[in-house]
Amino acid sequence: MHSDNQMNDNEIINLENKYLASTYSKIPFVVTKGNGSTLWDTNGEEYIDCASGYGVALVGHCNPKVTEAIKIQSEKLLTCHCSMYNETRANLLNKLLRIAPNSMNRAFLCSSGAESVDAAIKIARKNTRRPGIIAMTGSYHGKTIGALSTTWNKRYREPFEPLLPEVTFASFGDSEQIREKVSNKTAAILVEPVQGETGIKPAPDGFLKEIREICDENGSLLIFDEIQTGFGRTGRMWASEHWGVDPDVMCISKSIAGGLPMGATLARDDVMQSMMIGDHSTTFGGNPLSCAAAIAVIDYILNEDLVKRAESIGNIFKNGLDKLTKKYKIAREARGLGLMLALEMRFDVRNILRNALKERVVLLNSGRTILRFLPPLVISEQEIKQVLNVLNELLEKEEASKFENNSSK
Ligand SMILES: Cc1ncc(COP(=O)(O)O)c(C=O)c1O
Repeated sequence: MHSDNQMNDNEIINLENKYLASTYSKIPFVVTKGNGSTLWDTNGEEYIDCASGYGVALVGHCNPKVTEAIKIQSEKLLTCHCSMYNETRANLLNKLLRIAPNSMNRAFLCSSGAESVDAAIKIARKNTRRPGIIAMTGSYHGKTIGALSTTWNKRYREPFEPLLPEVTFASFGDSEQIREKVSNKTAAILVEPVQGETGIKPAPDGFLKEIREICDENGSLLIFDEIQTGFGRTGRMWASEHWGVDPDVMCISKSIAGGLPMGATLARDDVMQSMMIGDHSTTFGGNPLSCAAAIAVIDYILNEDLVKRAESIGNIFKNGLDKLTKKYKIAREARGLGLMLALEMRFDVRNILRNALKERVVLLNSGRTILRFLPPLVISEQEIKQVLNVLNELLEKEEASKFENNSSK
């Protein structure tokens, strides 16, 4: 397959570097096409995608059911503000709330993860008439001012202070510390059931149940950020199901519309009822195009039993990573649930990321030392084996070079 691009790689890279706000750390990889778990570069070379655009392409790139739904909807109606009614949106709401945790029965529709977190913060403040949010150490909730205020990494927060007041952080997993911090000013506790950006860290057993109890005792709301974990990624439709705990408010986005921008904040009826006309709105929220794509995504997940697939194929991937951890001293730990996995190394992983790309595997990192795997749930067993083989070769080389360097000192 050859590229239809009119520009060569250097021209594309130069234009983006010249004109795009330089807020992204970029890799010199020009992508022209995607299908399932495969990406193509401008020379027609194939890559196995273990990144999914940071967890978006869950049902695969350009899933034919999704692109078909987009095509059909694109010829009917692209925009329809939520101040009017639309059948595609009504259908999506019906489907989404059927698969949502039992406690969720209303949705606010928006266009990104951070927006859905901002809405959750407003809902919690309005419903409880309290200002405080307790977020977790290691959290990532996005970079709009509201979401950023609850994101742990100081490097992201400090240049933009002052942020939202009354946000405090408690150690992820330490319910005693949360019990000490919670007060009659706490509107909500905000948690990712599996922390994503800080290296795939599942909540310790018992933790979500304990904070559920703390919220109930204190009249605070429990918000789960399932933006990265939702829609089967962890081998359950929602990661919170691993621990059997329902939230009062839930944030979702990323994979929901198969690659089109969409987010949603779900809440219990009585909680959402405190939001009145005019309290919150967004022009593109619930547009029929994203809704049509999201219907196709949900149908595909259910029809193809992708949630179970994430669990079974995720176990194969995880076992392979465990073996690498045992084999190489430079590997510290493999962890994660379903197809949300990490391999923590003892060294900087930038070399491995670069070399994996040369071997036609697209990986992600979390911080300096953690490799992160968020492949489409349609990735084949064969492709996972190929990825593990590439990792095996790269780790062997890295380990050899580390020991050479050490022995020559
Ligand atoms: C758990 C979590 N919450 C929120 C966000 C922010 O989403 P967005 O980048 O769409 O604003 C992300 C993005 O990576 C995320 O992983």
